[in-house]
Amino acid sequence: MKGILLAGGKGTRLYPMTSIVSKQLQPIYNKPMVFYSLTTLMVAGCRDILVISSPDDIPRFESLLGDGERWGISLSYAVQDEPRGIADAFRVGAAFVGGDPSMLMLGDNLIYGRLDFLRAAVASHTDGATIFAYTVANPSEYGVVEFGPDGTVISLEEKPANPRSSWAVPGIYIYGPDVVDRARDLAPSARGELEITDLNRGYLAEGRLRAQPMGRGIAWLDTGTPEQLLNASNFVHAIEARQGLIIGSPEEVAFRSGYLDRAGLADAIAHLPSGPYRSYLERVVRD
Ligand code: DAU
Repeated sequence: MKGILLAGGKGTRLYPMTSIVSKQLQPIYNKPMVFYSLTTLMVAGCRDILVISSPDDIPRFESLLGDGERWGISLSYAVQDEPRGIADAFRVGAAFVGGDPSMLMLGDNLIYGRLDFLRAAVASHTDGATIFAYTVANPSEYGVVEFGPDGTVISLEEKPANPRSSWAVPGIYIYGPDVVDRARDLAPSARGELEITDLNRGYLAEGRLRAQPMGRGIAWLDTGTPEQLLNASNFVHAIEARQGLIIGSPEEVAFRSGYLDRAGLADAIAHLPSGPYRSYLERVVRD
């Protein structure tokens, strides 16, 4: 399963923070935002990941994340020269995806909790598209899905004024190999973007779209506004302070996912500056 991490866009709602650095490089508590989506893709089983961002920001992502080798994964990079929509990720990433299934994650989404359901969804994905569903108080701000007990999707709408359910669609999606052709054939919406919801509605029309609920034990947060960013930071801080564990560390996730052995983890942290992040990972190596 190839992974695509979409981390472009203009981040206008976070201006002036985003005037020189993109949204997905802003901190959520103690790490760059992109660490959380990257580690979610890693936990889901993606070891070959394409990072897509704007021409100005791609060099910054490359210098932050590198080629992934120190985390036992492969990272490559592609430029989206204009924010043409989320589904444009499959035009920009067409050569990368090739004929493989893929998982797309938005770099401003944060998913926390037991992620076995993601691994299971990847393992059981055979054809079509899988989206996820999460109950929220404000569904009108998201894609909204209605689905039957077996996950068959009944309706899917983007930011409806009168939502048919309280199930929002988080920014993580699984597709079969045909997604590249379908994205190529997609027409821009009224606002001129290649909408992920239109791509998914194409699968729905063919009866090939499934929705899987994320349980209440999962936290899904988005981070597009200053208030959401603060809430996400407070959330990460509360969990980390209580448990003494770190959320969203690529080094730790690589180790626990079996992408690095203990010696590989020790190597990966050898060059880190001394401080709480390194001390934590040294404890992981020892325990
Ligand atoms: O967060 C989940 C929601 O994400 C879904 O429920 C919606 O169905 C989906 O359309 C999307 O809604 P947003 O309003 O959050 O989309 P936005 O245009 O803000 O884009 C989401 C992220 O993707 C954002 O961090 C920037 C990035 N992006 C967006 C576009 C349009 C790109 O990198 N390139 C783009 O061209």
